[in-house]
This record gives sequence, structure tokens and C-alpha cells, in this order.
Amino acid sequence: MQDPAQDNNPRQDKNNDTWSGRFNEPVAELVKRYTASISFDHKLAVFDIQGSLAHAQMLAACNIISSQDLKDIQRGLAQIENEIIAGEFAWSVDLEDVHLNIEKRLTALVGDAGKRLHTGRSRNDQVATDVRLYLRHSIDDLLGLVRALQIALLDLAENHTNTIMPGFTHLQVAQPVSFAHHLMAYFEMLKRDTERLHDCRKRVNRLPLGAAALAGTSYPIKREYVAELLGFDGVCENSLDAVSDRDFAIEFTACGALIMTHLSRFSEELILWMSPRFGFIDIADRFCTGSSIMPQKKNPDVPELVRGKTGRVNGHLVALLTLMKGQPLAYNKDNQEDKEPLFDTVETLTQTLRIYADMIGGITVKPEAMRNAALQGYATATDLADYLVRKSLPFRDAHEAVALAVRFAEQRGCDLGDIGLAELQQFSALIGEDVYQVLSLEGSLASRNHTGGTAPNQVASAIAKARASLSK
Ligand code: ARG
Repeated sequence: MQDPAQDNNPRQDKNNDTWSGRFNEPVAELVKRYTASISFDHKLAVFDIQGSLAHAQMLAACNIISSQDLKDIQRGLAQIENEIIAGEFAWSVDLEDVHLNIEKRLTALVGDAGKRLHTGRSRNDQVATDVRLYLRHSIDDLLGLVRALQIALLDLAENHTNTIMPGFTHLQVAQPVSFAHHLMAYFEMLKRDTERLHDCRKRVNRLPLGAAALAGTSYPIKREYVAELLGFDGVCENSLDAVSDRDFAIEFTACGALIMTHLSRFSEELILWMSPRFGFIDIADRFCTGSSIMPQKKNPDVPELVRGKTGRVNGHLVALLTLMKGQPLAYNKDNQEDKEPLFDTVETLTQTLRIYADMIGGITVKPEAMRNAALQGYATATDLADYLVRKSLPFRDAHEAVALAVRFAEQRGCDLGDIGLAELQQFSALIGEDVYQVLSLEGSLASRNHTGGTAPNQVASAIAKARASLSK
């Protein structure tokens, strides 16, 4: 039979004794599961331990705990870390989150020293610290992965400064460009993504610990010392802000959304280029799948999924912005919802970047198909207009003369370069024999000979400059 006295005594509820002195009944099962974050925030465990070690070291240095307490805490946390790494740590949903799980185990291992660890600290500044440590680590990993993708792009571009393809506007053939030039556009996007991550890292790398619940703590702590121990560039300057804002996570997710957006655009192009209508490239079989019904199919699943997963990262950005927008200062439990979007953003970016670098290395280029496509669609019409301008025809008149020439070629079903000189001269008497060089794809590329242009020597130096920037 149940003892009614026990029912009314929450202290008997061993699972909820962190704050149970204040409560008359245990938390409802459903609520316990609803409010628990352990199923996902266990990912923060190693960072939680790092933060706790630094906090304990500071407490001892400031004589807030004894050096024996510090030793016990260090020994206990080392064992806990081993248990976690070995997959032997028993996470309990009853203990709500990663912080309480670790603290409870520490106390079981080392006794009172474990209970002293939380002196001058709250889970509010603790979790903000953990997330920042996690994010800093993730940013450093991602920077390496973006760099690897950039190298893959350079390796491919290097061989294709003379491979001519149509450049498009409105997905209509516009002007010829080199395949290398096209690839280098993505290099530039990734370069800015890298800059953004570096910049975001500066704001991530500030220490919240010491803010405690919201107002700071009455113990004589040294926040700067903790910051130094954890490799932070400094401390968060306002305790209310330190525990409550997640702008750094939003900013990171925005960086992530842009990376995914760039790769999504690239993916769209790879998908088009691989389709038989274009036939510009082939993607290695290991990145494609077949169809269960159509034996002839080879589908570009990886780029399609990258395009698809961009939506999910964009969603995380909106989720985090929305999470923040209505919160009064300081900490609110809403913030617990920052983790899953953030973790999934990191996970999605990590996998995507990794697979992308490999996939770029596995692309087969089909220069003939690119060239044939560039020869259709009057890609050198602008070159003809520029030629006439060089012969002192005003640009608008040149534009009109070339429009008529294109119409003529279209009716005849040929390219501009296939029209005889006498016939071309009907459109402008300024046209001479030297026009055919201008109308050639090579001539068109070579003429765009300035920084950022598609001339092969310009693109080659852009590639060299890019390589040098990566080895810095
Ligand atoms: N699990 C919580 C989170 O992720 C930790 C902080 C909880 N603080 C609190 N006062 N309930 O945000």
C-alpha cells in the first residue's frame, strides 16, 4: 500500500530534487517529457564539461571552493567524460537536460564537491556558454570544409580556362564564357561565406558565464579568467544580455542559409548541365541513383537534395528569428528551442559541404557540348556591336545594325560568323575582314581582358590569386 504521507512529500521524488523543496507535487510525466531537452542537448556534453572545469578552476582560484573540491570535481568530470565517450553514460529524462544529468552524476561520484560546482552559476549562463563553445567548434570545422570545397573548385577550374561554354542571362544564351570563369563565380561566393563565418565567430566567442541567472552573482568571481581558460576573446558585457540573446545563433544560421543558397544555385546548374538537353557534364555514378522503373535513368540526387535541404536551413533561420522576437529579458525557457535548429543547421552544412567537395572532384566535363551550345544563340552579337563602336559607330546604332544581322542569320539558320563579308556589310559598311576574329568564341573571350573578365589569362590569374589566398 502506498504511504499517503510520501505522496505529499516531494522530497521523496528523487527524480525531481533539484528544486523540489519549493514544490508540493512532482512534475507531471507528460510535462517532464515536454520540458526535457536531454534527447538533443546531450550533444553539448563535452562543452558543458569544458565550461564546468573552467568555472571550477576559477572558483578555486578565487577561494570560493577549496583546492580539494577542485581536484574532486576534475576527477569526477574526467570520469564522466570517459563514460560519455564510451557511450556508457546513462542519460535520464528525469534529470531534464545535459547540465543536470552531469551535475547529478558528478555528485554521485565525488559527493559535496559536486554540489559546490554550481556556486555562482546558473543553468542560464551555463547553457549560453555551452552553445557558444559548440558553435565556435562547429564554425572552425565548417571553415575547413568550405576551404576543401574551394580547393576542389580550383582544381577543376584550372583545366578549363579555355573551355568555352555559353554564359546565360534569363537562361538564354548571352555571351561566351569559360567554364573556369563560371566555376570561379562560386569560389567568390564561398569566399564571402568564409568571411561571414569568421566575422560571426567574433561575436560567438564571448563568455556568458558569470551572468548567473540574470543579474550576476554575489561571489567574488573573475569572469575574465574563465574567458581566458576557455579561449574566449572576452566576456559578454551585460549579464541580462549574456543569458538571453541568441543573436549569435541566428547570425550563424543566416551564414549557413547563404552557404546553402549558393550551393543550391550551383546544384540547379549541375542538374541542368547533366540533363541530356545540355549534356555539359557528367556526375560520377556514386553521386547518382537510378530509377526503379526506368532503366535508362541516372538521376542527380545529390544536387537535388542539396537544393531541397536549403529549404530546411532557411526554415531554421526563420525558426530562430521567431523564437527570439517576443521574448522579454532575460532568460526564458523558449531558448531551449534554439538547439535543434542550430544542431541541424550544423549537421546539414557539414554533410553537404563534405559531399559537395567530393562530387566536384567527380565531374566529367564535355567541352564539345559546351562549345556547340555557345555557337548557337548568337553569343558573339555583343562583340559585333562593340566592334562597330570601335569603328566609331554610336553604340545604339551598332546595336540596331547587329539586331538586323542576327535576324538575317536566324532566317538563314546560321551563325553570325557564317555570313559572308559582302552580306555582313549590308548591315554596316564599317565591317571589314577582321570581323571574323571578333565573331569567334575565342576572340570574344580574349577581348574581355580586364580584372574579373573571362579572358583566359585573366581567369588563370584569378585562380592563382585564389590559391594563394587559401594558403595564407
Ligand atoms: N535546458 C535549458 C536550455 O536549454 C537550460 C537552461 C534552463 N534554465 C532554466 N532556468 N530553466 O535553455
